[in-house]
Amino acid sequence: MLVSCWSAKGGSGTTVVAVALALVHARATDVLLVDLAGDVPSALGLAEPESPGLAAWLAADDDVGVDALARLEVEARRSLSVLPRGTGPLAAAPERLEALVGHLTADPRPVVADCGVLGRGTATAAAFAGVATHSLLVTRPCYLALRRAAHLPLRPSGVVLVNEPGRALTRTDVEDIVGATVRAEVALDPAVARAVDSGLLASRLPRTLERALRRAA
Ligand SMILES: Nc1ncnc2c1ncn2[C@@H]1O[C@H](COP(=O)(O)OP(=O)(O)OP(=O)(O)O)[C@@H](O)[C@H]1O
Ligand SMILES: [Mg+2]
Repeated sequence: MLVSCWSAKGGSGTTVVAVALALVHARATDVLLVDLAGDVPSALGLAEPESPGLAAWLAADDDVGVDALARLEVEARRSLSVLPRGTGPLAAAPERLEALVGHLTADPRPVVADCGVLGRGTATAAAFAGVATHSLLVTRPCYLALRRAAHLPLRPSGVVLVNEPGRALTRTDVEDIVGATVRAEVALDPAVARAVDSGLLASRLPRTLERALRRAA
C-alpha cells in the first residue's frame, strides 16, 4: 500500500500529516516513510542524514538498482524507517522513476510518502501521487489553496483537511471544489506545532492528530 500526501500550496501541514500517518501505522506494523520534500528528518526530531538519499539514487546510473534503496533507509524509531530525500534535484529519467515507484508499490510494508507541493514541476512527486493506493491532498479550507488543487491535472482519492478556526469554507465546500471526500479533519492544535518545533512529534504524537488520522488511510 502506497499512501501519498501532497498539497497544492506550501505550509498546509503535509509533512506533519505524512509523518503522523506513518507513526500511526508504525504502532501495528513496520512502515516506510519516503521523503520527497526534505523536511521529514527534522519533523521526526532527527539529525539530517549524511548518507545519500533518494535524490542520489535517482541521479545514479542504471547499475545502481532498486536493491540499493534498502541501504539508503534510516531507522527513525522502532518499526519506522525513513527513505531520506538527500540533497540535489529530484530529477529522474522516466524509467528510473518507474522502477522506484514499482519497487515501493510492491513493498510489503505500508509506504507513506511526503510528496510536498505539487504543481511546481516536480515530476517525481506527481508520479508518486498519481499511482498511490491512497492519494491524499492535505489542505487548509483556504480558497486559494483549493483553487490551485482544482487546477492540478491530478485528482486526490481523499482529502485531509487541516482545520483553522474562523474560516468560511466548510467541509462540504472543500469536497465540492476538489471533487474528493474529506477522509480526516485535523484540528489546528498548538500542541502539534509545539511537538514539531521541539522534535517530539515521534515520541509524543498529539492525541488529536492520532485520532483524526487513524482512519485516513
Ligand atoms: N495540525 C496542526 N496544528 C498546528 N500546527 C500545525 C499542524 N500541522 C502543521 N502545523 C504547523 O504548520 C507548519 C507547516 O506544517 P508542515 O511543515 O507540515 O506543512 P507542509 O505542507 O509540509 O509545508 P511545506 O509546503 O513547506 O512542505 C509547521 O510549523 C507545523 O508545525
Ligand atoms: Mg513539507
